[in-house]
Amino acid sequence: MDVRKVFGIPKFSSSSSSSSSSLLWLFLFLLLERAIELDAAVYIVGDEDGWTTGYNYLSWSMKYNFSVGDTLVFNYVKGQHNTWEVTEGAYRSCNMSTGVLKQHRSGTDQIALSEERGYWFVCSIEGHCPGGMKLGVQVTANHDAPSPEAPPSDNGGGQAPPPDAGAATSVAPAAIFIAWFLHFYLSFASA
Ligand SMILES: *[C@@H]1O[C@H](CO)[C@@H](O)[C@H](O)[C@H]1NC(C)=O
Ligand SMILES: *[C@@H]1O[C@H](CO)[C@@H](O)[C@H](O)[C@H]1NC(C)=O
Repeated sequence: MDVRKVFGIPKFSSSSSSSSSSLLWLFLFLLLERAIELDAAVYIVGDEDGWTTGYNYLSWSMKYNFSVGDTLVFNYVKGQHNTWEVTEGAYRSCNMSTGVLKQHRSGTDQIALSEERGYWFVCSIEGHCPGGMKLGVQVTANHDAPSPEAPPSDNGGGQAPPPDAGAATSVAPAAIFIAWFLHFYLSFASA
């Protein structure tokens, strides 16, 4: 959702009273945007070990649930490894003669998981894929997105509350409260 559209964030002006109000809106906007971003996670592949040989990325991948909007970061010494996105077949066989989808080699490859599907990564350097540098993740729909099968909430049928609504909904009211507090504080201070 575009917070700017919903709240009609005003443009900055040179007059001092409306610039403090603009700052207030900016602050509120940043808090709301942060609240929405909290929903997307960034995962460092291999945690502090990074992307390397001799690590079990299957175990690593089982620690998390990946959803659309999350990001994977592959950290390694540039030139020593790489991150190739491949098909599941190439991932399983470690044979990259076919099935290469994308090649990354920056040393800090940030890969956005933008689709609901399986993603498969290997290091293409000789021996590294069989040596453990292979990662597969299953990306599921964002759990905060409205579900078409969600039961109506007003039927009073004693149904369990809907699953975790996420951090965004709990941070937004706090942002609004803080913004109002600042609003009154600023008007008091300038009186
Ligand atoms: C992943 O999702 C499953 C099923 O929804 C849940 O049981 C499990 O606790 C979740 N794991 C993590 C690490 O969040
Ligand atoms: C890799 O696959 C290609 C064709 O799919 C095949 O010709 C080649 O022999 C395979 N390499 C190995 C090492 O299995």
